[in-house]
Amino acid sequence: MQSVWLSIIVVTLPPTLYSIAVDEFYPFGYENGDAKMELRGDVVSSPIAFPSTFNYFTAGHNRCYVSDNGYIVLSRSASQFIPKNFPTNLAFISPFWADSDVTKGGAIWYRLTTEETIKNRATYDVKTFFPKMTNFQASWVIVATWYDLPFYGCSSLGGCLKRNTFQAVMISNDSNSFAIFNYGKITWTTGTSSGGNTQTGLGGTAAQVGLNAGDSVRFFQVDVGFTPEVVNIDEMSNVGIPGVSVFRIDDSEVLQPCQEGYISKITITPNSGPMLGGQYITLGGPCIESTAIVVASFAGSQKYKCQRQSQFSIGCVTPVFNTTGEIIINIEIEQQDTTRELVYLYTVVNPADSKIRVYRQNPEDWYEGQHNISWDTDAVELENTDTVDIFLFSLIEEADGRLSWTSELLQEGVQRSAGWAQISLETQEFVHAIRVTSATVQTDQ
Ligand SMILES: *[C@@H]1O[C@H](CO)[C@@H](O)[C@H](O)[C@H]1NC(C)=O
Ligand SMILES: *[C@@H]1O[C@H](CO)[C@@H](O)[C@H](O)[C@H]1NC(C)=O
Ligand SMILES: *[C@@H]1O[C@H](CO)[C@@H](O)[C@H](O)[C@H]1NC(C)=O
Repeated sequence: MQSVWLSIIVVTLPPTLYSIAVDEFYPFGYENGDAKMELRGDVVSSPIAFPSTFNYFTAGHNRCYVSDNGYIVLSRSASQFIPKNFPTNLAFISPFWADSDVTKGGAIWYRLTTEETIKNRATYDVKTFFPKMTNFQASWVIVATWYDLPFYGCSSLGGCLKRNTFQAVMISNDSNSFAIFNYGKITWTTGTSSGGNTQTGLGGTAAQVGLNAGDSVRFFQVDVGFTPEVVNIDEMSNVGIPGVSVFRIDDSEVLQPCQEGYISKITITPNSGPMLGGQYITLGGPCIESTAIVVASFAGSQKYKCQRQSQFSIGCVTPVFNTTGEIIINIEIEQQDTTRELVYLYTVVNPADSKIRVYRQNPEDWYEGQHNISWDTDAVELENTDTVDIFLFSLIEEADGRLSWTSELLQEGVQRSAGWAQISLETQEFVHAIRVTSATVQTDQ
C-alpha cells in the first residue's frame, strides 16, 4: 500500500475571548417583534405587564418600564438620567445606567415574549449556570436592548461617534427570576450632566451596573459599577464568557452562578475530530474551581491531563485513537477532596475526512528522501507557541490483523512562522500521515 493520504492535525489553545458579539445577544429588533422606544431623551417605555408576578429580592412586581438611560424599573415608572449609588428606593435592573441620548443615534428595543425558541434559550441558560434548577422552565422573558447609543452632551465633532451596545434579559418561571446582562461594545461611561467629557464620554459619575431591590437597603452592585473601570464591563463576566453576566434575583440576595452547586449541563466543542488526535477540545459545563485537577480518559485510554479554562470549561487535547466512530470521554475533576466524573460523547473521524491544514509539496507519493511540507502558520491551534513539532504517523498491521498507529518524531522546535520544513522519509510500506503540533502542548500531555 502506498501513499494514501496526508492529514494534519494541530493542537489548539482555547480561542481568544472577546466581548460577546451582538449576533449572540438574544435576538432583538423589529424583525423579532420588538417595540422601539421613541427617539426622545429621558423617557421610559409604556408599561410592560408581566403574565405572572415577577419576584425580585423576594418582593412581587407586576410590570416594568424600560428607560433610555440603561435600566429597567419595576412596578413604578421613573426616569432618572444621573446614575446613583445603590441602594435607592426604586427597583432597578441596571445593565448600564448612564445618561444616553438616542436623539443623536442608536435605538432602544424591548419586548416581553413567550415564544418557544426564546423560552428554550432562557431555560437552557438558567440550567447551565444554575445547575440545581433542574426543573426550571422559563414561562416568559423580557428582552431589552440598547443598541449603538451615544451619550448625552456628546460633541458632534467626534464625541457622538462613541457608542454603547448592551442588553438585559429578564427570565421568569412564575416563581424564580433571573437576569442576564450582555455587553457588546462599551466605549463611554458618563453623560455631560454627570460630569462626563464631551469628546470621550468618560470621567464624572460613571455608569451604575447592578440590581437594586428598591427597599433602600438591599442591592447588588458589580465591582466596577459607578467607577471609571465600568468601561471594561464588556470584557468581564461571572460565567466565563466575556461580556456576559448572569444573576438569580428572586431571593433575598442576588445569587451568582456556581454558588449553589455544580452545573449539570455539559457541552463539547468540537464534538468530532481526527483519528490522529492532537485536537484541542473544549468541554463546557461544570463549575470548576481554580485549584481543580482535571484528567481525561478517551475510550478507556490512560488518563491525560486537561487544562482548566474557566469556571465553566476545560480544554483537553485528544490523543491518537485506534478506532473511528463514537467514543466516550471520561473526565475526572478533583477539587476539595471530592472527585466528580463527567461523561462526554465524541466522534473520531478518519483522517482522510478531516480538514487538511498541512500539505506536502509533492503529494503523489510517499517516496523515500526529502519532502517539503508546509502548514497554515496562522492556524489558531498552533498559536500558543512559536515552535512546532512534526511527527510521522504510520499505520501498521498487527499480527492479529488489527491496525494501529506508530509515531516518529521527525523534527522538533521548528519555527511555526516558517510555514514549511524539509523532512526526510525512509521508505515505508504503510499509510502515513504527518502531524504538526504546537510544541509546548505536546510536551504537556
Ligand atoms: C421554577 O423553577 C424552580 C427550579 O427548578 C422550581 O423549583 C419551581 O417549582 C419552578 N416554579 C414554577 C412555578 O414552576
Ligand atoms: C485501542 O486503544 C485502547 C486504549 O488505549 C486499548 O485499550 C485498546 O486495546 C486498543 N484497541 C485496539 C484495537 O488497538
Ligand atoms: C517549500 O514549500 C514552501 C511553500 O510552498 C516554499 O515557500 C519553500 O520555498 C519550499 N522550500 C523548498 C526548499 O523547496
